[in-house]
Amino acid sequence: MTSKELRQKYLDFFKSKEHAVIPSASLIPENDPTALFTSAGMHPLVPYLLGEKHPEGKRLVNIQKCIRTNDIDEVGDATHHTFFEMMGNWSLGDYFKKQAIEWSWEFLTSTQWLGLDKNLIAASVFEGDEDAPFDQEAFDAWKKVGVSEARIAKLPKEQNWWGPAGKTGPCGPDAEMFYWVGDPKKAPDSFNDDNDLWVEIWNDVFMEYNKKEDGSYEKLSQQNVDTGMGLERTLAVINGLDDNYKTELFTPIIKKIEELSGQKYGQTAKITRVMRIITDHLRAAVFVIGDDKGVTPSNTDQGYIVRRLIRRAIRYGRQLEIKDAWTSKVARVVIDIYKEVYLELDRNTNFILDQLNEEEAKFNQTLEKGLRQFNKLKGKVTGHDAFNLYQTYGFPIEMVKELAKEQGVEVDQKEFESELKKHQELSKTASQGKFKSGLADNSEATTKLHTTAHLLLAALRKVLGDYVIQKGSNITPERLRLDFSHSEKLTDEQKQEVERLVNEAIKKDLVIDCEEVPLEEAKKRGAMGIFESKYGEKVKVYTVCDQDDNFSCEICAGPHVEKTGQLGHFKIIKEQSSSAGVRRIKAVLE
Ligand code: ALA
Repeated sequence: MTSKELRQKYLDFFKSKEHAVIPSASLIPENDPTALFTSAGMHPLVPYLLGEKHPEGKRLVNIQKCIRTNDIDEVGDATHHTFFEMMGNWSLGDYFKKQAIEWSWEFLTSTQWLGLDKNLIAASVFEGDEDAPFDQEAFDAWKKVGVSEARIAKLPKEQNWWGPAGKTGPCGPDAEMFYWVGDPKKAPDSFNDDNDLWVEIWNDVFMEYNKKEDGSYEKLSQQNVDTGMGLERTLAVINGLDDNYKTELFTPIIKKIEELSGQKYGQTAKITRVMRIITDHLRAAVFVIGDDKGVTPSNTDQGYIVRRLIRRAIRYGRQLEIKDAWTSKVARVVIDIYKEVYLELDRNTNFILDQLNEEEAKFNQTLEKGLRQFNKLKGKVTGHDAFNLYQTYGFPIEMVKELAKEQGVEVDQKEFESELKKHQELSKTASQGKFKSGLADNSEATTKLHTTAHLLLAALRKVLGDYVIQKGSNITPERLRLDFSHSEKLTDEQKQEVERLVNEAIKKDLVIDCEEVPLEEAKKRGAMGIFESKYGEKVKVYTVCDQDDNFSCEICAGPHVEKTGQLGHFKIIKEQSSSAGVRRIKAVLE
């Protein structure tokens, strides 16, 4: 089965069960200061899990682009990926455990769908603890579809509880499905979580709890279902492959790397691992840069992750002796694999390739400078020197170590390690904050700033021109940040005019109106928004009405304040470049 067929089957199955197909959200979360990337299908849907009405109804199905950076060290094995596609079906206060499990079973085993062997499937449920009881309902549902009791494991929170994505928010017990990938004749009668030949293929999460700030759980106002089936892993399993990188989603990329390096995948365990890492990292970088809210390599936030992915790929490339501008050649193969499914990659092809070429050139310069410094040290490198190479020249720590080893240079290992440890502790604290996925912060302050961002975008279009569109936004309770397409620095006059227009709209105490309309209608009305919807039929349009003339009209999930008079005084605190052709404004309400 091809990836296209698998995606289509999944969507068709749930369409036949009256689910509305919704498009993948961006990889860059909107208005969520606590998460750098969309890391699960539930992420963009949190408001609806909490009870807000979704314009497409209570049953949804989607394939969400996800980035997970927390297990980057495991990338290199057969199943972990930084970027992956998550197929998911959703009940927003509609059907619950029994129905979800029955449908999962039908999709997996019916010959009309995946047709997996019933005798090779095992399941698990939550065993219960002081926060929530044993999941009898899920257990009974598995038995009813035909899984034997010995094949239904009862597991604790570490395994069978999902969420919240951040510190607080929707979460609940889950029920997982496993497929035996070993010799079918040797499939054990009972399920054992430790046996790697049982591969997890699907997770049905029953989100009926809300985790609170104090760590306690309360029941949500509605019972939801959030399921997640990783596309890459499922594709491998149904094709009888023991390595995701052997599926058609990866083989053309591997082939390109083989061509560039003159080495063969599978030749040695090391080469296999290195090729997987290069493949994984460049593929993830292509998706992040190629997102319509595309991010470019930098030293902060998402940009830092992209930089790290690209540079790590280049370093591993050197281990295979691949040199000279090559990352964009691999990227082109990635784009070709996906461009018919993720049209943004097609639209943004040149941008992606340019960014990779630029970053690769920059990194090569860094490497050269670092190498020159390294060679100057000769003979003996103090721990401080070694660390300095990293700190001052951006020379990767791993390379300092490698070079020292290669050249038989003595490094004061103890001092180096202690400097390194200090640094790692620091960066760990910093990245823990960053990688932690979080929930949209719907506090009053962020809601106000969210509405203000709409006013700001409208004002920018009035002052600079209609070509200005939003390229990204990030809102914390303290400030808003808006990225928009415009290539020059704003003049003082332009900034003042933008401020004046926004403050005028606030003073007029305009009403913010929300309406659910078909996407086509929204486009006709000239609503701003990222028109990536392929299937989405109905969208929310928020309009700030100024008599007959709309001040602002945008497709957006909300929430917003009711009237602009609630906002306070608007002030731009910074205007700067964000990336090529994109400017960034930071602003506050006083
Ligand atoms: N949210 C669940 C997961 O990511 C489905 O596994």
